[in-house]
Amino acid sequence: MSESFFEKEDNVKQYFEMTADYDGRWFLEQFKRFIPAGSQCLELGIGPGKDLDNIRQTYEVTGSDYSFIFAELYKRSHPEVKIKVLDAVTIKIKTTFDCIYTNKVLHHLPVAELEQSIKRQTEILNENGLVLHTFWKGTGQENYEGMLFHYYETDEVKALFEKQFNIVHISTYKEFKEDDSILVVAQKK
Ligand SMILES: C[S@@+](CC[C@H](N)C(=O)[O-])C[C@H]1O[C@@H](n2cnc3c(N)ncnc32)[C@H](O)[C@@H]1O
Repeated sequence: MSESFFEKEDNVKQYFEMTADYDGRWFLEQFKRFIPAGSQCLELGIGPGKDLDNIRQTYEVTGSDYSFIFAELYKRSHPEVKIKVLDAVTIKIKTTFDCIYTNKVLHHLPVAELEQSIKRQTEILNENGLVLHTFWKGTGQENYEGMLFHYYETDEVKALFEKQFNIVHISTYKEFKEDDSILVVAQKK
């Protein structure tokens, strides 16, 4: 299998530089609004780990990424934090969680794999467990050097989760431009 985008060291380095100004404050505020403090959480796709840095102040978090490079870099600088190499599609972990979250990760999965991921998330969520995810809003998809960007409309995100989850909250927000993103919070049925 060929290396995926974030399994290449240069791409990881470039991503760190590109996101140096991101402070994750808005994401943390939303997180605190919907997820009870002290919850056992799993983050899929930590990247440089800014959200993980913020969220682990109030929550018990296991961080993960499918990229060994991102996982290893975070682990090296934060040996006290639980870090795993996990693919968001298969999530091969035995532990269960109160909350599974991602921030701009799941748009990298083809739709069939996203459905597989959502199903797997229900399997490793405790009773009444919550998911909190963000997506890029729009239509169609793009491929950037082998990295997929699949855009979703609010109704599509709702439909993806509705079978296995009750939607607690769904709204659009601004990452760079007005309404360019979607936040969904849902509780396992
Ligand atoms: C936008 S970054 C996440 C940034 C992160 N929220 C932060 O605080 O910096 C997207 C991440 O998703 C990861 N990713 C992409 N596809 C994945 C998959 N199938 N499984 C797990 N992680 C994946 C990438 O390696 C990358 O680290």
